[in-house]
Amino acid sequence: MIRIVILGTGNVAKHLYKAFKAQDSLEVVQVYGRNPKALRYFEPYTKTTSELSNIMVADVYMLAVSDDAIGTLSKQLNLTQGILVHTSGSVAMNLLPNRMGRGVFYPLQTFSENRVLDFKEIPICIEASDDDGLRLLTQLASALSETVVPLNSKKRRALHLAAVFANNFTNHMYHLSHEFCDQKDVPFKLLLPLIKETADKLEGLSPYDAQTGPARRNDKGTLKKHLSQLKSENHKKIYSLLSKSIQTTYGKKL
Ligand SMILES: NC(=O)c1ccc[n+]([C@@H]2O[C@H](COP(=O)([O-])OP(=O)(O)OC[C@H]3O[C@@H](n4cnc5c(N)ncnc54)[C@H](OP(=O)(O)O)[C@@H]3O)[C@@H](O)[C@H]2O)c1
Repeated sequence: MIRIVILGTGNVAKHLYKAFKAQDSLEVVQVYGRNPKALRYFEPYTKTTSELSNIMVADVYMLAVSDDAIGTLSKQLNLTQGILVHTSGSVAMNLLPNRMGRGVFYPLQTFSENRVLDFKEIPICIEASDDDGLRLLTQLASALSETVVPLNSKKRRALHLAAVFANNFTNHMYHLSHEFCDQKDVPFKLLLPLIKETADKLEGLSPYDAQTGPARRNDKGTLKKHLSQLKSENHKKIYSLLSKSIQTTYGKKL
């Protein structure tokens, strides 16, 4: 049985809590949160605390707090045994104090409230300061996911940046598209099959080969018409920048 204390009460803490709870080989012995109200979600199922001095004994202490809080919170902890890990893609493992085992448990997925996710399909990138820690994190991650990847801090940071392009920027494009649909009174919902297919086809095609659209075809007339339909200067700038990037990629001039 692996005993876990989760520190943090946000999106990742909740998703991890549910995934750990579903495994007989794992036990979340306690959840720490600085805000007692946020702990209410966990109270019916496990012990909770808002006092760092009351943290219980565990094998793994999982810091699922904002990136900026990882350094300060980990320094305030008075732990002597077990392994302390964070869940961030962009924070180095050695930001954690080295008086105990330390590591990283980074689930490569986007976690939002009220979304049901299958952890089996979520890659978990792990890193540990020693072999025992790596073995423990491998065991813990393998209980949840079919894809467990040992990755050092430098590679994880690169992967996180790649994820920002693939997920955060793409999602912002969906938002701009949504906004434009609302302005023109056309249903954004009609774009959902297109959005799904764009992601699904990457199972068998490289993004390079999958690219379609007026910039890829160098349809100058359509590019011009699109630009003239956009009212916002910001939208025009983004449209031009991305079209230029596509055209440069495929060797054409704007
Ligand atoms: N969301 C994702 O898609 C995702 C995916 C992979 C990894 N991660 C990583 O997972 C970690 C948590 O992300 P999240 O999305 O769960 O964030 P979140 O929903 O914003 O929750 C952040 C949590 O950190 C707590 N916190 C912030 N500052 C603190 C401090 N100084 N002391 C104690 N607690 C503090 C917050 O408490 P309050 O409620 O009191 O503010 C809250 O419980 C981050 O390192 C993030 O990079 C996130």
